[in-house]
Amino acid sequence: MEGKTVYSAIQPSGNLTIGNYVGSIRNWLTMQDEYDCYYAMANMHAITVRQEPSELRRRTLELAALYIACGIDPEKCTLYVQSQVPQHAELAWVLNTVTYVGEMERMTQFKDKSQKHADNINMGLMDYPVLMAADILLYQADFVPVGQDQTQHVEITRDIAIRFNNRFGETFTVPKALILKQGAKIASLQEPTKKMSKSDENPNASVYLTDDKDTILRKFKRAVTDSGNEIRFAPEEKAGVSNLLTIYAAFTGKTMEEAEREFSGKGYGEFKLAVGEAVADKLAPVQAEQARILKDKAYLSGVLSSGAERAFKTARKTLSKVYRKVGFYQGE
Ligand code: TYM
Repeated sequence: MEGKTVYSAIQPSGNLTIGNYVGSIRNWLTMQDEYDCYYAMANMHAITVRQEPSELRRRTLELAALYIACGIDPEKCTLYVQSQVPQHAELAWVLNTVTYVGEMERMTQFKDKSQKHADNINMGLMDYPVLMAADILLYQADFVPVGQDQTQHVEITRDIAIRFNNRFGETFTVPKALILKQGAKIASLQEPTKKMSKSDENPNASVYLTDDKDTILRKFKRAVTDSGNEIRFAPEEKAGVSNLLTIYAAFTGKTMEEAEREFSGKGYGEFKLAVGEAVADKLAPVQAEQARILKDKAYLSGVLSSGAERAFKTARKTLSKVYRKVGFYQGE
């Protein structure tokens, strides 16, 4: 699979959860040796809901340090901040003209966020998937590793790419979403049929990547399971237990069969403790490394400026092609 391109991003809004790690970052790690990878901090997406400016700036750097602490190698991948590459906004404008209002109104995330932020249903919130399409298409990405909640946005990206290609001639690679078989939707620890989310109001529902060991163990201890006593993977019947098994497998690198075997005949209390310990043991060195990187301001800003420069070069090429196709004057 030489020569293939991978694109993904995370919004620097709110505290990242183990869902973000399992559903996306963990998946990215396996790709950096094989593909040309672009991983961004999507701060332009983040401002579609209100952000405290100083916090947004801080979280952007924290997210960059987290990527690196998790094992994303900035020598192998292009790590950059979305707003530092102006072509994202420029391509989004052009793509807006081949996207229909009705399509955007039907997006699940738009409907959810409109309900949640009823006092701030801004144009950016509605246009969010078009900006995401611009992100992906600028780099001619073949693969987009994301969690399940983003699949609809990758689908609309494909529709937009195909529509543009049909109207103006072959321009964009039509990307594919890469969704993990297990871990694409880590559930809330309190309501295991719901997604674990950065913005959940119940602090016990989500395990944050910044949580310390005591907090992690406490949250897993309180995790909602069922009235049975069997530890096996059966998402329909046993949503809570299956979610914990998925988390355990993801954090230990074990298969689901191995995880099930390990806990067969054991009690829920012992099981929850083991899951908590696996998560805490994996996160402790990541947190320490993230803190160390954040202190090294010169290193981090160096990584981000060379990332932005590399991204800019690719983005400029695609945008110039798009401008030519749509008939924009670009000088003689
Ligand atoms: P964001 O910031 O909400 O989430 C980042 C990534 O984490 C995944 N994720 C989960 N996976 C499993 N279980 C969960 N509970 C869970 N919660 C979140 C998300 O699916 C996502 O992969 N719009 C994107 C950011 C973005 C983007 C892009 C992604 C901007 N441009 C271009 C791909 C390509 C977002 O809001 O993700």
